[in-house]
Amino acid sequence: MTELTRNQAAGSAATDTAATHTGTKAGHPMWSSRLAFILAASGSAVGLGNIWKFPYITGENGGGAFVLVYLVCIALIGIPINSMRQLAQRDGLSRRWAWIGGMGMLSSYLILSFYSVIGGWALAYVGKSAGGLFVGASTEQIGAQFGTLLSDPYSLLLWHSVFMALVITIVARGVTSGMEKAINILMPLLFLLLLVMVGYALSTDHFAEGFGFLFTPDFSKLSTEGVLTALGHAFFTLSLGMGVMMAYGSYLPKHVSIAKTAVTVSVVDTVVALLAGMAIFPIVFSSGLEPGAGPGLIFNTLPIAFGQMPGGVLFGTLFFILLVVAAVTSAISLLEPVVEWFEEQKGISRLRCTLIGGIGVWALGILSILSLNEWSGFHPLGFISRFENKTLFDLFDYATANLMMPLGGFFTALFLGWFMSRQAAANELSFGNPPAFKLFIFVLRFITPAAVLLVFVYNLL
Ligand code: PHE
Repeated sequence: MTELTRNQAAGSAATDTAATHTGTKAGHPMWSSRLAFILAASGSAVGLGNIWKFPYITGENGGGAFVLVYLVCIALIGIPINSMRQLAQRDGLSRRWAWIGGMGMLSSYLILSFYSVIGGWALAYVGKSAGGLFVGASTEQIGAQFGTLLSDPYSLLLWHSVFMALVITIVARGVTSGMEKAINILMPLLFLLLLVMVGYALSTDHFAEGFGFLFTPDFSKLSTEGVLTALGHAFFTLSLGMGVMMAYGSYLPKHVSIAKTAVTVSVVDTVVALLAGMAIFPIVFSSGLEPGAGPGLIFNTLPIAFGQMPGGVLFGTLFFILLVVAAVTSAISLLEPVVEWFEEQKGISRLRCTLIGGIGVWALGILSILSLNEWSGFHPLGFISRFENKTLFDLFDYATANLMMPLGGFFTALFLGWFMSRQAAANELSFGNPPAFKLFIFVLRFITPAAVLLVFVYNLL
């Protein structure tokens, strides 16, 4: 067993998920270029987290102040950990910390179970959009369409199954360059389409209000719970705390600057989320909707725009297809670690591992589906006041994004900041700028763990 496969057994992601096997070094497949790695890492990072989750949690947490804290978290926590994790994997140091990988795997498993349900919503909306269901529909009618979908466990199950089937098929075949090409074309297209949506938002007379909601901080609206949510989302959206980026980074040729790459991926991811927010909030205000409407926010707002803009059927259909693609490329990076682990542990074929892992995730997803309708009144931790109204679905989301990923990140920062040799780090990160590097290490050693701990402890009290 090579060192690399051993590391992957410890819970890291993706051998050939997105790696292109054009070059090899010491027997390991390498990325064809820095761009290829950026694409695959962005494929994992950019997903429902950016377009579905970011706008709705921003709406729930009062806007500007939340966005500001989120941006600070991305810069102080996301970027250092993102690059250092990639680095640690290169040096083979991560083996001793394999248990972080184990926790990451468990989070992957839990996240994918509900992620796929939301991916199913996006699939359902491809059909609705193509069928012209949004054309000329009122805000109420669009809201009712979403309500009907959520209240029907059978259609939710159907779409969740289709989504998982897609992911299982791709992972079972051990996707390679096909995915790189798809991301190469489809991600920029998603980006363009978001620009079109922002263009539409500009044409409403509530753009300034939506923009102000996103970018004018009002700290009186931000709770400590909101700060934890912002922190958790920084991990979620960058796919951190579970070994995905670490495994992807291990395929990066040595001469590539990890620091620059991590910054690029983080910037792309953040820009996509902010564009989604800029497209959605003007529509929220111009249609008299509530920013804090919850997980249905994008499904209640964007269709209004598609129903009114010229070419809306085409744009809407394309948009939801691209959202599905973005969700699938993220979902692949969530299933892969589970499959890798199975493969190593049990020595059974990739196809079987994917089926076992995938069907397990699919079955767990049924709990999330039921929390949206039949079990919507079931609050398993109702005896704890902060979880009073949380369904199983809410709890999966909370446990992974707000607890498991930040905790994984805390230990990762400690490990990377205190256990890696500085010289190795300096060389590998190719900062070429000593003061910037000093600042980086300082942030990683002190600020990052302290910030995570502070937010955590504050929330427990
Ligand atoms: N980052 C992805 C998103 O924003 C979700 C994800 C989390 C993917 C963790 C992989 C690992 O949608």
